[in-house]
Amino acid sequence: MGQAEWARDLARNLLEGPLPRRWAHTQGVAARAESLAPILGEEADLLTASAWLHDIGYSPALVVTGLHSLDGARYLRDVHQADDKLTRLVAHHSCAVYEATERGLIDALNAEFDQERPELVTALTYADMTTSPDGLPLEVGDRLAEIHSRYGPEHLVSRSISNATPCITSAVHAVQSALGRR
Ligand SMILES: [Fe+2]
Repeated sequence: MGQAEWARDLARNLLEGPLPRRWAHTQGVAARAESLAPILGEEADLLTASAWLHDIGYSPALVVTGLHSLDGARYLRDVHQADDKLTRLVAHHSCAVYEATERGLIDALNAEFDQERPELVTALTYADMTTSPDGLPLEVGDRLAEIHSRYGPEHLVSRSISNATPCITSAVHAVQSALGRR
């Protein structure tokens, strides 16, 4: 079984029952990640695996700190002894440092998980931030607006997304440029 298939089965077990909408989103993000195979070459399977797993930290069984990227990455590291590249991508997906800062967890996140290579980091951010909560493709601007409307102006997640917006949009544009060169 490839890494992506293992990741899909694990994500399904953690998300499909308790969080069906998050599972729909995850399937869309994985499909988006698969579409990046032409620019990722040998690392396409790793990127798809990270897409399947990026939101498992939302699973009620895994919530510890409330920072889903950190909770998911710790679970992969500690329970499954998962590949370092995979845990790093999940830990830092979609510019997680901004929400980590808001939650007072930035030191823990950075101490436990290094950043992966920019090509992989931006690819996962692109896949997540151009996929709707229901798993459908959408523009990054619409995705950011959707997060703001879902959480409301006072929420920590909305503040984090505002601060992360330049990081997210530059990642999406970098991947779109790479796709355009193909
Ligand atoms: Fe996501």
